[in-house]
Amino acid sequence: MPRDTYSVGYDDAAAEFFGRRRAATHARFFLSHLTRGMKLLDIGCGPGTITVDLARLVAPGEVVGVDLEPSQIELAQARATAERIENVRFQAADIYSLPFENDSFDAVFLHGVLEHLSDPIRALHEVRRILKPGRVLGSRHADFGGFLLEPAPPPLDQFVPLFERLMLHNGADPHAGRHQLRWLIEAVFTQIAMSASYDCWTSTPEQKRVTGRFLQSLVSDSDFARQLLAAGLADRGLLEQLRLAFADWEKNPVSFAAEAWTEAVAWKTTNAEVD
Ligand SMILES: C[S@@+](CC[C@H](N)C(=O)[O-])C[C@H]1O[C@@H](n2cnc3c(N)ncnc32)[C@H](O)[C@@H]1O
Repeated sequence: MPRDTYSVGYDDAAAEFFGRRRAATHARFFLSHLTRGMKLLDIGCGPGTITVDLARLVAPGEVVGVDLEPSQIELAQARATAERIENVRFQAADIYSLPFENDSFDAVFLHGVLEHLSDPIRALHEVRRILKPGRVLGSRHADFGGFLLEPAPPPLDQFVPLFERLMLHNGADPHAGRHQLRWLIEAVFTQIAMSASYDCWTSTPEQKRVTGRFLQSLVSDSDFARQLLAAGLADRGLLEQLRLAFADWEKNPVSFAAEAWTEAVAWKTTNAEVD
């Protein structure tokens, strides 16, 4: 099977942006289901900041973080070492073929991953395979249909549509958030509890600076920009206009951005329920 194309890419500004995510903010919906001693898998862990927090919460339970991209595994391992978290390890792996036995984990966490996949239902079947019967999945995914960007005069009004078009071009789903309940049901998860929330990308001056750098880098020298050009979805002129507009946006005291997410806590049935 060919590897899916990840629209965002892995440059430094993206790692800085994702590296500010922590369990207290981004896994809040799932924390009441975690207990000490659990064996937990975080799939698509990126730079691993949420993963190391989850490891603290389930210690001395073992936590494994996996990501398709080796550079993210290196960042995540460095983070765990810096924070002196010893019950976590990281390895490169693909959600479609996880290198674990059936029924291996007490909990699985998925954050910001399904929206980037061409076959999220197949991925969720694989997640279910490695989860122990009667155990729990926490799953949070974005929906770009709810993205708030203000102010957004031209060309900034083209940014979210461009992002969505590139995801669709890559076989991904920019509206994953609203589709995840159906996907979970099709992948035979049960007792699914849904919730929804926003992440504010401009909550503090420092967060706005990191977001501004991320957005400017996305539309200049990044995998995202290269993919847009290769797909014929944007030309260099438009990308440069977007970069300049995001530089102004970052300095604007009234600028605001927020991302919409849906969250699911879902269970793998026990063998007794299946029989
Ligand atoms: C938006 S980032 C989210 C990272 C982290 N979970 C977070 O929320 O900060 C998506 C991550 O999913 C990873 N990913 C994409 N496709 C994958 C696959 N098939 N298997 C494993 N990881 C994948 C990417 O490499 C990327 O690091």
